[in-house]
Amino acid sequence: MNVLLLGSGGREHALAWKLAQSPLMGAFFALPGNPGIAEYANCFGSIPLEDHDAIVAICQAEKIDLVVVGPEAPLVDGIADRLIAEGIAVFGPRRVAAQLEGSKLFTKELCKAHDIPTAAFGRFTEADAARAFVQRHGAPIVLKADGLMAGKGVIVAMTLEEALAGIDEVFAMGGAGTEILIEEFLEGEEVSFFCLVDGETVLPFGSAQDHKRAFDGDQGPNTGGMGAYSPAPVFTAEMERRTLHEIVKPTARALADAASPYRGVLFAGLMITAEGPKLIEYNVRFGDPECQVLMMRMEGDLLPLLHAVATGQLEDQPVPLKPDAAISVVMATKGYPGAYEKGSRIGGLEAAETIPGVKVFHAGTSRAGDAIVAAGGRVLNVTAVGGNVAEARERAYDAIARIDWPEGFCRRDIAWRALGE
Ligand code: AMP
Ligand code: GLY
Repeated sequence: MNVLLLGSGGREHALAWKLAQSPLMGAFFALPGNPGIAEYANCFGSIPLEDHDAIVAICQAEKIDLVVVGPEAPLVDGIADRLIAEGIAVFGPRRVAAQLEGSKLFTKELCKAHDIPTAAFGRFTEADAARAFVQRHGAPIVLKADGLMAGKGVIVAMTLEEALAGIDEVFAMGGAGTEILIEEFLEGEEVSFFCLVDGETVLPFGSAQDHKRAFDGDQGPNTGGMGAYSPAPVFTAEMERRTLHEIVKPTARALADAASPYRGVLFAGLMITAEGPKLIEYNVRFGDPECQVLMMRMEGDLLPLLHAVATGQLEDQPVPLKPDAAISVVMATKGYPGAYEKGSRIGGLEAAETIPGVKVFHAGTSRAGDAIVAAGGRVLNVTAVGGNVAEARERAYDAIARIDWPEGFCRRDIAWRALGE
């Protein structure tokens, strides 16, 4: 099977690493790819993801049997619709179903119409009405801009003053004509849950917990994610059963009934509350860095599973996961998520991978001659499996100690919840 992988981050490196192990893999390409992905795939590094014409042309020239889409933006932009129209199988939903991530209002209305547990909400186009609503409901309360906001566009206001002051800010973040959502504040522990979905067939693909704040102890600014581990102890078998039954399956059914069946991986961002799981948001892709830990735990061949999703042939058999735990620690350039310098040299990557169970995924690197250099904020995902979370964590931090990169930093406390710290 000839495969084209779209994307350039640590998530896509993990997918490439896993897919490349498949005995079914034929020619393997990536666009734009990164230096880690280039170990397995021929990369079209100069073609941007927005260039759908070029993507189709590559699929035709290279006789691609399956396109695997890593990030959400091309899906929200309709890359799946375009490829399907050209007769090319694609792992990732069409534009209409991708609104689950592309539009928070779409998801909230779907939840409301199908009794899917989520925070109660109001929607507003005018600041005065929004302020009156906030005054009525008080704090804590959550403000969100609609649309694909790349992890921004949300204010969790702990006081009434913060909420009132945040309203104009959220309207501004959304840009002209934005509608905003104001939501009930959910209390509990957050978890990411992944399912492969092919129309109405829903296969659980494990849980993970992310760490969004930049510094230890969940301090500092929000980031794209500083580390993850899997499985998340808070997500018990009973929580999984309830989430499938109350949230994910009704969502898949609603989309199938509306003639826009979901095909791809569905990432449910959940709050485990005293009343059970509630949906915070959906994403239409694997999480980053959650994907990295799931790929380390998955047993067997990923490629036929993704192909089965893309072609509507998914069988109702669980995705095989090792009982082991996996952890991924993000190494970022000092200064991230604020301003940072690019181009610092990274050494010790091979030494890090000599530790058993360790794999270092490239998230934001580039090649400068023989050297690997930092080319972004989140740069490396030092990932490890172990018999339990403690062992996986020890391996990951041992590997980090071997990486020679003075310009980088990482959190030292990834997986603290699982370890009861
Ligand atoms: P989102 O972009 O929707 O994932 O929101 C970003 C973060 O804000 C989430 O990961 C949560 O930590 C928090 N959040 C969003 N909605 C709520 C809510 N209704 N109650 C509590 N926290 C929330
Ligand atoms: N790690 C969170 C995300 O991928 O959205």
